[in-house]
Amino acid sequence: MLLGVNVDHVATVRNARGGCEPDPVEAAELAIAGGADGITVHLREDRRHIKDKDLKLLRRSISSVELNLEMAATEEMIGIALRVKPDMVTLVPEKRQELTTEGGLNLTKSMRQIKKAVEAIQGRGMPVSLFINPSVSDVEIAKETGARMVEIHTGLYANAKGRRQSTELERVRRAVERASDIGLIVNAGHGLDYRNVKAITGIEGIRGLYIGHGIISRSIFIGMEKAVREMKRLMEIGKKF
Ligand code: PXP
Repeated sequence: MLLGVNVDHVATVRNARGGCEPDPVEAAELAIAGGADGITVHLREDRRHIKDKDLKLLRRSISSVELNLEMAATEEMIGIALRVKPDMVTLVPEKRQELTTEGGLNLTKSMRQIKKAVEAIQGRGMPVSLFINPSVSDVEIAKETGARMVEIHTGLYANAKGRRQSTELERVRRAVERASDIGLIVNAGHGLDYRNVKAITGIEGIRGLYIGHGIISRSIFIGMEKAVREMKRLMEIGKKF
C-alpha cells in the first residue's frame, strides 16, 4: 500500500510568521527520504496554507514520486492544474469556514461541475480521483463521472469509538470492494494516525493512503528532543567565543 504525505500543515506553521520557514518543499523532500510514495497539497481558494508558489516549487522539485493536487472543481483550480501539471488531481468539496475537508463530494448535486473538471484534467493526461464518502452508491455515481480513481473518506471511521468504529470500518471496506469491482483505482484517507491505520491496511484493494495531520503531529514530537539539543549545543559553542 502506498503512502501519500500531505504537507499542508507545514505551510500553516510557516504562514503563522509570514516568512519562509518551515518550507513545505523541504518537508516534502524529507518525507520522500522517509519513504513517502507521494506528496499531497491542497490549494485552497483562500490560500490559507499552500500558496501557488509552493505548488510550482513542489512541481519543480518532485519527480521521483507522485505529486497529488487536492482542489475544488472550480474554473480557477482547473486552470492551475492544467498549467502546473501535478501527477494526479483529487477533487474535494471545499467550504470557506471549515478547518479541514469535512466530508466527501456531493456527487449528485455537483455532477455537472465534477464531470467537466474530470474531462478537462483527464483529457490532458492527469488521472483524477474523487474524494467520496464510504458509500456504495457514491462509488457507483463516481464511476459515472469518468474519474479513474476514488479516495474513500476514512474520517468517520477515524473519529468513531468502540463498536461504532467497527461499523464505520465495515462501510469503508464495502465501498473499497465495490469500487474495485467496478474498475476504479481506490485510495483512502482522512483522520488516519498511528493508532487507527492498522485496520485500514487490512482492507484489500486499497492502492494508497493519504495522511497529513497524524504524520506532521508525530514529526513534531519525534523531532523536538533533537531540535532542542541542537540549540543547546549551538549556545554552548557560542559561550566559548
Ligand atoms: N485526503 C483528503 C481528501 C484530505 O482533504 C485530507 C486533508 O487535507 C487528507 C486526506 C489528509 O487528512 P489528515 O490530515 O486528517 O490525515
